[in-house]
Amino acid sequence: MAKIAVLSGDGVGPEVVREAMKVLEITGARFGIPLEFEEGIVGGAAIDREGTPLPLRTLSLCKACDAILFGAVGGPKWDSLPVDRRPERGLLLLRKELGLYANLRPVKLFAPLVDASPLKREIIEGVDLMVLRELTGGLYFGEPKGIDALPNAQGERAVDTLIYTTPEIERIARIGFQIAAQRRKRLTSVDKVNVLASSQLWRRVVTETAKEFPGIELDHMLVDNCSMQLIRDPRQFDVLLTENTFGDILSDEAAMLAGSIGMLPSASLGDGPGLYEPIHGSAPDIAGQDTVNPLATILSAAMLLRYSLHHELAAAAIETAVSRVLEAGYRTPDIWQPGPAVLVNTAHMGDLVVESLVKG
Ligand code: IPM
Ligand code: MG
Repeated sequence: MAKIAVLSGDGVGPEVVREAMKVLEITGARFGIPLEFEEGIVGGAAIDREGTPLPLRTLSLCKACDAILFGAVGGPKWDSLPVDRRPERGLLLLRKELGLYANLRPVKLFAPLVDASPLKREIIEGVDLMVLRELTGGLYFGEPKGIDALPNAQGERAVDTLIYTTPEIERIARIGFQIAAQRRKRLTSVDKVNVLASSQLWRRVVTETAKEFPGIELDHMLVDNCSMQLIRDPRQFDVLLTENTFGDILSDEAAMLAGSIGMLPSASLGDGPGLYEPIHGSAPDIAGQDTVNPLATILSAAMLLRYSLHHELAAAAIETAVSRVLEAGYRTPDIWQPGPAVLVNTAHMGDLVVESLVKG
């Protein structure tokens, strides 16, 4: 029996997670994978009920499970709280506590969505890349961090620390080379070596680690150039290896290559249970309207089956079902254009994927 912790969180989180669970249930039944779900609270929802974004009970639940299905956290209601007490802290603590250092964000354009992107067809047709983001180091967690007062009422001083160690870089680089080995065997390591000391170490360690993987072609690219190349010629990329903050920014940018951020799933992996979430966040402006695109979360559920439960066939079946539903012309508002496409809401999109899976 595989046990899955379900953390819906805030905003559109519960709406997208509901659809992904429907899809997991039917997939489990079809492929004979016994699944058990247990819900936990996180983010703003947990702040409201228990005064903390990651209650101990939620953390213990996650530690005791095989995988975590995560919705989203955050919203305007909690925006005035200091950073260390905001809903986002719940997610960051979870990443840190579970040692989820490797964040996989596949950016694949489903062919029927080629016109959903604001970018030209001839630039994005066939895009298929993987952003591999280091997730437990860098600016997000470096100490010192905080804001304090300057003397004599001169204002305040804020500091964040960008810190990386050799072992941290080595382990994420190895994952990068291993992923590249399963794909087109190219790894582009992203840094800012012309300015940052952390990038100098990053580039040195990645170059050294490459010696363990002679079959992989490695190149290095400055992050500013990379953000431009992603729009100019995204098909040059296979695997992009980034530190935490660069990966956060570049993966949102890369999402537009897939038509909408509502299409991008993710997996966060470490030595324990993996966490699976859409990259879009809580989208408070459309929460509760049944219009959010559930496909990013449904595709995250596919990644859960692939990476935590090692059920490649079941994972691929979900991806095929999504592809078929898109080919049949169904679209949520974020990927809809005027024309023959059929506009559907969140729950209907989930039902269509389920139906496609039932048909097999
Ligand atoms: C992401 C999100 C998070 C991050 C937020 C919600 C803390 O933007 O997963 O990309 O910055 O990592
Ligand atoms: Mg982000």
